[in-house]
Amino acid sequence: MPRVFGFIKDQRTNLPVPKPPTNIADATYIVTGANSGFGLECTKHLFRMDAKRVIMAARSRCKGEAALTAIRRETSRPNVGEVWELDLTSPDSVEAFAKRVRTLDRLDALIANAGVVMANFQMAEGIEMSLLVNVVSTMLLAFRTLPKLQESARKFGVQTHNTIVTSNSALESEMEHNIDSLQGDVFDGLSKEKSFKTMVQYPNTKLLEILAVRQLASLLPVSEFGVIVNAVNPGFCYSELDRNVGTMAKVGITVMRVLLARTAEEGSRNLLQAAFAGPESHGAYCSECQVKERDVPAWITNDVGKTTQKRVWLDLLKRLDTIGHSIDIKALTTK
Ligand SMILES: NC(=O)c1ccc[n+]([C@@H]2O[C@H](COP(=O)([O-])OP(=O)(O)OC[C@H]3O[C@@H](n4cnc5c(N)ncnc54)[C@H](OP(=O)(O)O)[C@@H]3O)[C@@H](O)[C@H]2O)c1
Repeated sequence: MPRVFGFIKDQRTNLPVPKPPTNIADATYIVTGANSGFGLECTKHLFRMDAKRVIMAARSRCKGEAALTAIRRETSRPNVGEVWELDLTSPDSVEAFAKRVRTLDRLDALIANAGVVMANFQMAEGIEMSLLVNVVSTMLLAFRTLPKLQESARKFGVQTHNTIVTSNSALESEMEHNIDSLQGDVFDGLSKEKSFKTMVQYPNTKLLEILAVRQLASLLPVSEFGVIVNAVNPGFCYSELDRNVGTMAKVGITVMRVLLARTAEEGSRNLLQAAFAGPESHGAYCSECQVKERDVPAWITNDVGKTTQKRVWLDLLKRLDTIGHSIDIKALTTK
C-alpha cells in the first residue's frame, strides 16, 4: 500500500487507552516536555492511573507549575506530581537533572518526549539547535538515567523503560539517503546553514533518535539489565509543535490537521503503550499503540542501515565527548 494510504489508515486507527501495569501505585515516572501537548496528556493519564510519583520535566518552571496545578485539580490528586527544571538546549541542565534522578529511590520509566521543530537555523554547542535538543541532549538524558533504571529493575524485580518519542516522518522514503550520504561527522554534516530546511531537519533528528535507540538496545539485553529501550511515534496530532514554523508551513499543517490529526490526548496513549510495553518492544518502533517494526523500512534494517546506525552511534558518543559530557558506554552495558 502506498505510504500515504498507510498514513491515513494509521491516523484513523482507534487507539485504546493502554492498561497500566499492576504495580503502578508503587511506580515513579519522568515525563519530559510535560507542560504541553503529549507530555501534558501523558502525565494526566499517569495521575489518573494512580502512579505513585510523577516528575514533570519542564524548561519553564512557571509553565510546569501551571500545568501541574491544572492536572491536580482535574484528577483530584492534590499531593501528587512535582516539577523539575530541564532545558535540553543546555547539557549542563541535563546533568543537573540527572543528578537529581540519582537521588530517587525508584524510577520505572523515562518518557523522553520533549522536542522542537526549528524554523530558523541556529547553532548551540557547535551543532544545529534541533540536533542538540532532539538528539544529543535527549540521548544524554537517556544515558544518564540508565543506571537508575537498571538499579530499579534489579531492586524491585520489574522491567523499567527508557522511551524516546520520535516521529513517523523519520521513516518516509525521501529520508533514505539523507544521513548515509553525508561526508564526515553526521552532526557536522547536518549543521550547515546553507542546506538547512526545517521540514528535512526535523525528520532527520527523529531518524537519528530511532538509530540511537536501536543501537543502545542492541547493547543492553533486557534479560541482563531489565531495561526496555524503545522509540515511539505519537502520530500526527494537534499540539504546539509548529509554534516556530513559518506562515506557509503553518497553513499546510493546519489544513492537514483538520483532515487527519488526532488530539494530543489520543496521541499520548502511544507514549503510555511504549512505557508499559513488554520486552518485544526492546529496540523497536512503536506506533498506533503497538510494536510496529513492520513500518521500519528496509533501508534502516538492511546492512547499509546498520552501518549508518553504527556510524551515528559513534558520532553521537564522540559529540558528547567533545562537548564535555562523555558517556562510559562500557560501564553502562557491562554487568
Ligand atoms: N505533534 C505531532 O504531530 C507530533 C508527531 C510526531 C512526533 N511528535 C513529537 O512529540 C513530542 C512532543 O511534541 P508535541 O507535539 O507535544 O509538541 P509541544 O506541545 O510543542 O511539546 C513539546 C514540549 O517539549 C518542550 N521543549 C521544547 N524544547 C525544549 C528544551 N530545549 N528543553 C526542555 N523542553 C523543551 C516544550 O516546552 P515549552 O512549552 O517550554 O516550549 C514542550 O513542553 C516531540 O518530541 C515531537 O517531535 C509530535
